[in-house]
Amino acid sequence: EPIKPKKQRLRWNAKEVEKGDYEYFMLKEIYEQPRVIADIAASGSGQVQKIADFIKKTENIYMVGCGTASYAGIAGEYLFSKIAKRHVNVSIGSEFGYDLDFLTKKSLVVAISQSGETMDVLESVKKAKARGATILALVNVLGSTLYREADKKILIGAGPEIGVASTKAFIGMLAHLVLLAYALIDKMDDGIKALTMAVKSTESILTDANVKRLMLLVKKLKTKNHIFVIGRGLSYPTALETALKIKEISYIHAEGLAAGELKHGTLALVTQGTPCIVFLPNDETYSANLAAAMEMKARGGYIVGISNKSNDVFDDFIKVDDAGEATIIPNVVVAQLLAYYLTIERGFDHDM
Ligand code: M6R
Repeated sequence: EPIKPKKQRLRWNAKEVEKGDYEYFMLKEIYEQPRVIADIAASGSGQVQKIADFIKKTENIYMVGCGTASYAGIAGEYLFSKIAKRHVNVSIGSEFGYDLDFLTKKSLVVAISQSGETMDVLESVKKAKARGATILALVNVLGSTLYREADKKILIGAGPEIGVASTKAFIGMLAHLVLLAYALIDKMDDGIKALTMAVKSTESILTDANVKRLMLLVKKLKTKNHIFVIGRGLSYPTALETALKIKEISYIHAEGLAAGELKHGTLALVTQGTPCIVFLPNDETYSANLAAAMEMKARGGYIVGISNKSNDVFDDFIKVDDAGEATIIPNVVVAQLLAYYLTIERGFDHDM
């Protein structure tokens, strides 16, 4: 039966799908991130406030995504709790079907996805819809299946992401979740302020001098078989994301975990020279993270501290300027660069 196609103009331009001066899409996409965050801070607030006003009326909130997008969900859980005092249930797409007994018609399911085509997320949406829940898509691709299936939508606006590793879309997810959390308490300006700080902090990570430091660090890590990454609070999803990126493109085994879990078993694997990446932002998690770094150091671990200030316990130190509740953003950018240069050093192709 003939159908009448509905046409929609994409706001992306052809240049965005070319590498330009960059050797790899992933690097280009990493360097686009300050602009992505700034754009969200500048123009995202209108659509975000409307959605936040809707969220205020919902009874319970679920966030669902896969891989990197699921870590955005975990970050959303901490941000909503800390800033807006709202509880979020987080599920990974493939587990959502076993975890939906409390979904009602007053539930909101925030489905997070770069592509909007990830099957486990689409299946989750189908199941949630069958229970009458409202679906909010936080999605990068206009017109994708998720975009079309959702009742409400926030377009991430990161532009096309070509590299296999999700970078700028993830940063865009985080930036929107920061704004949403602040919009829930009618303090959008504070969210915009945090994102503006995140832009500055990210720019200073992307300076040549800083990237050179990271490249030196990578030379020490490239022959290792295992890397451990820890953090607490918002740095817990950061640790998970760091480990995933390292595994996905450099093919080194990496494990991300909540710092407090170390002593429940994993510490046994930290021996002389084991690389341990520790996120220590300037927040309520600082001293507990430092204590975990010391435990790893006592076992001979090689401590890479990622923080706004140095400490004697660090063998290597990457400085990340504080960006308040948005510090997760520049921290993730450090993780992306580490994974990227580890991959270059090991001679693999990130984009594939
Ligand atoms: O397109 P999506 O955001 O739904 O994709 C979900 C995951 O497959 C994706 O984030 C994957 O983990 C990335 N390649 C990680 O860099």
